[in-house]
Amino acid sequence: MDAHGWDERYRTARADSGSLWSAVPHSRLRQIADELPPGTALDLASGDGRNAIWLAGRGWHVTGVDFSTEGLDLARGHAVSRSVDVDWQRGDVTTWSPTRDFDLITMTYLHVSEPEIQDAVRRAASWLADGGTLIVIGHDRENLTRGAGGPQDPAILYTPELLRDAASGLRIVTAERIERDTRADPEGPPEDGAVAIDTLLHARHQAASA
Ligand SMILES: C[S@@+](CC[C@H](N)C(=O)[O-])C[C@H]1O[C@@H](n2cnc3c(N)ncnc32)[C@H](O)[C@@H]1O
Repeated sequence: MDAHGWDERYRTARADSGSLWSAVPHSRLRQIADELPPGTALDLASGDGRNAIWLAGRGWHVTGVDFSTEGLDLARGHAVSRSVDVDWQRGDVTTWSPTRDFDLITMTYLHVSEPEIQDAVRRAASWLADGGTLIVIGHDRENLTRGAGGPQDPAILYTPELLRDAASGLRIVTAERIERDTRADPEGPPEDGAVAIDTLLHARHQAASA
């Protein structure tokens, strides 16, 4: 979906006074980030801001990048209502580049083509500070056969191998499939009795002296 398509989705969500997804980050993102000392963070494809806002509320200096103007407007509003500051930037993650490096980079549910996902992960890896952490989460391809929700096009779904390969220059802490019970997890989609399968990459930049 292009930026106009996403703008339309966010516009509709705003008119319905609803959200497209949970207002809090994925539970595994929270778990990993909770163990890190706050520093500088970048959230790629930041959507309506849940990752960036949560991190900012925990003391991180956060930049959020998304190509949807409507998504960014929603994110700005949420940040103001939660009294946190985030540097929101409009950009296409396939071409956008920062002018600094980051202690933490997150990217959740960016579903573009396989080469674009891998390129985004490789580029993000190159922006990590020494010892920095990369967290990538997306809908796994196995959802097509035994899971729930997410895009139904295998060409834009994740696998652990896809992310592991893209992050090969980093120390991989884990690259795995993780399951969510959509009845209990605020992430959704709320489908009765359904398990959603995500791919998680957690990797660390290896400091030059390590
Ligand atoms: C499913 S949403 C996920 C939003 C957020 N990461 C989250 O987990 O709540 C996907 C987001 O990716 C953004 N997006 C898709 N392709 C993009 C691209 N090439 N550059 C920047 N943002 C993109 C969309 O605008 C949308 O906000």
